[in-house]
Amino acid sequence: MSDKATLTYGGKSYDFPVVVGTEHERAVDISKLRAESGLITLDDGYANTGSCASSITFIDGEQGILRYRGYPIEELAQHSTFPETAYLLMFGELPNATQLMEFRGLLTEHQFIHENMRHHFEGFPSDAPPMAILSAMINAAGCFEPALVELERSDHFMQSAARLLSKVRTIAAASYRKSMGLPINYPRYDLSYTANFLYLMFCMPNMPCEPEPELVRALDVVFILHADHEQNCSTSTVRMVASSQAGMFASAAAGVCALWGPLHGGANMAVVEMLEQIHQSGESVESFVSRVKSAHAKLMGFGHRVYKNFDPRAKIIKRACDQVLAKLGVRDPLLELALRLEEVALRDEYFIERKLYPNVDFYSGIIMRAAKIPLGMFPVLFAIGRMPGWIANWREVRSNAKARIYRPRQVYTGPTQRTYVPLAERK
Ligand code: CMC
Repeated sequence: MSDKATLTYGGKSYDFPVVVGTEHERAVDISKLRAESGLITLDDGYANTGSCASSITFIDGEQGILRYRGYPIEELAQHSTFPETAYLLMFGELPNATQLMEFRGLLTEHQFIHENMRHHFEGFPSDAPPMAILSAMINAAGCFEPALVELERSDHFMQSAARLLSKVRTIAAASYRKSMGLPINYPRYDLSYTANFLYLMFCMPNMPCEPEPELVRALDVVFILHADHEQNCSTSTVRMVASSQAGMFASAAAGVCALWGPLHGGANMAVVEMLEQIHQSGESVESFVSRVKSAHAKLMGFGHRVYKNFDPRAKIIKRACDQVLAKLGVRDPLLELALRLEEVALRDEYFIERKLYPNVDFYSGIIMRAAKIPLGMFPVLFAIGRMPGWIANWREVRSNAKARIYRPRQVYTGPTQRTYVPLAERK
């Protein structure tokens, strides 16, 4: 195998080293390309660009493999918990019993938001998009933790990571409670991370209330499956912001904004909206799919930039969805519709040709509906799940002594130089 790639241009040849990853994926290192040849690369949507070397998550899109720090997602979804998986992503190894207990202790210790922050929620209109509130409130929380966002000591990283991970869940639930005119709950010390989230969302302070274990486990699996996904849009955003040496809270707040759109974290919401629309209109699945094709539109929850055979997360989440609905005795017509839609699309030449399969968002919304999570909060749950991945990536950028600011180039296609025309002379 060659350890260099040669580019021939303008009668000259240029050699570039080939970098090989631990899973044998290869990349041409073009960092000297412009200096040596005057050329840059142009790669729409970064589909062929390796923006960094990273040791956090491995994906093989052709074979449907996803591993966090080497551990297959299937094993983590079956055996791990969200805090343990978060620890693995952020610190590189599975914790031992003492480390896990300490980390859980930190999550519990830091689960409250500063009392003054409760007033911040009052500034938002009740119909404000939850992702806008989440992003703003993460930045606000950062204002209360200014000393903790640097990496001078490793326990500082542990402290800030635990604070951000724990508080994001408290903030998310508080924004929902506020929008509903309900009292904001205080987290409980005796509940797990995910059980506490359901408690904060749905329990009333004057009534005994225990989140259902089946839902807690299903949501924990949803969080694990979302915890990282290498250089996706929001994680790349977090790394981009981190590369300017911005703090952890600011970088995570930017990640929330990048996640918001329907092509990324907003897709779980768009899937349920699509299924509701089909259900209410009574249109057949076949006719809906054929309209999608003729409009060259998108079937939400289908397709992925990297996965070209199947999304391993979708397989797990589909099973979890079946299980939780069966255990709760819930019959959701949208699940039946989703199953039928998947069946029809997977048999259709249009989807086969383009290698379009259900992605993680196709079934996650059904679990969230079973948990009575309101539609607008679906992307917020994605953000809670993705937080460990963002934190791990933030750390990787900030702890790299050789890290440079992320600053891509462009091919300019605007007007060439022209002379300023005074206002009175313009037509
Ligand atoms: N339904 C119908 N056609 C599709 C879909 C879809 N969901 N996705 C892609 N295509 C078509 C697309 O129109 C194009 O067709 P043609 O070659 O004829 O122009 C072809 O497939 C290639 O698509 P692309 O837009 O170049 O693919 P991409 O890699 O740029 O986009 C994607 C990936 C996930 C944004 C896209 O598949 C999509 O918009 N899916 C729907 C939204 C969605 O479910 N997003 C969640 C992604 S998974 C969770 C996450 O990481 O956020």
